[in-house]
Amino acid sequence: MKDTRKPYIAGNWKMNLDRSRGLDLIKTIKGRLGDGSDREVAVFVPACYLADVSAVAQGSPLGVGAQNLWYEKEGAFTGELSAAMLREVGADRVIVGHSERRHVFGEKDEWMSRKLRAALDSHLMPILCVGETLEERKGNRTDRVLKRQLETAFLDVKPEEIRRLTVAYEPVWAIGTGEVATPEQAAEAHRFIRRWITGRLGAEAGLAVRILYGGSVNPGNVRNLLAVEDIDGVLVGGASLRPDTFIPIIEFGL
Ligand code: PGA
Repeated sequence: MKDTRKPYIAGNWKMNLDRSRGLDLIKTIKGRLGDGSDREVAVFVPACYLADVSAVAQGSPLGVGAQNLWYEKEGAFTGELSAAMLREVGADRVIVGHSERRHVFGEKDEWMSRKLRAALDSHLMPILCVGETLEERKGNRTDRVLKRQLETAFLDVKPEEIRRLTVAYEPVWAIGTGEVATPEQAAEAHRFIRRWITGRLGAEAGLAVRILYGGSVNPGNVRNLLAVEDIDGVLVGGASLRPDTFIPIIEFGL
């Protein structure tokens, strides 16, 4: 079943790199990508670099995305960017509900379904992030938290949209900490997410949806993670900032 889902390797730069180092990195990645037929690779860059990054990426299968969006079309939303604005500067995808947005900036569960709707309606492919904190895991509340995050985000998603939507399981305790989830822990969460989506949108959607793992992915652990049946790719933060750590992740299995 897994071989029907194309592996997806995504780099999330967060608020890192300057323009020239970022563009150098894109040129290096571009030079190492194949034709994109056996894996999908994308970078999620600071919005101010989207136009330059997408210009450099043009002509290659590298996807270019934003790290956040706001769901309204326009209006008095100081500091925010709409889906149409992101598209206009070259984004073809966007991260929704990253744990730093939820936990550092207080983004609410209830916003996520509208963010997904705005992205899908504007032909941006969203990656919806979900994941529990350490306290929630220790309190055996992981499934409950994932269910709540999925339920609130999927209010308005149709089965036929699932091929354009990706879910990333990112346990908060594993993000930027060097403490990666074990393949067993990740497998359990990914299975839960796929079952939930199957229950909600049907068997076909459950089989088709790609679920990425994120949290301290590096060249040393990517192979074991991607060997797990329900892990269809990775969302990489720190290790996506340098060619010597990101290229081996992109080239897993080659
Ligand atoms: P990390 O970040 O790889 O640096 O842990 C992952 C993420 O937040 O997407």
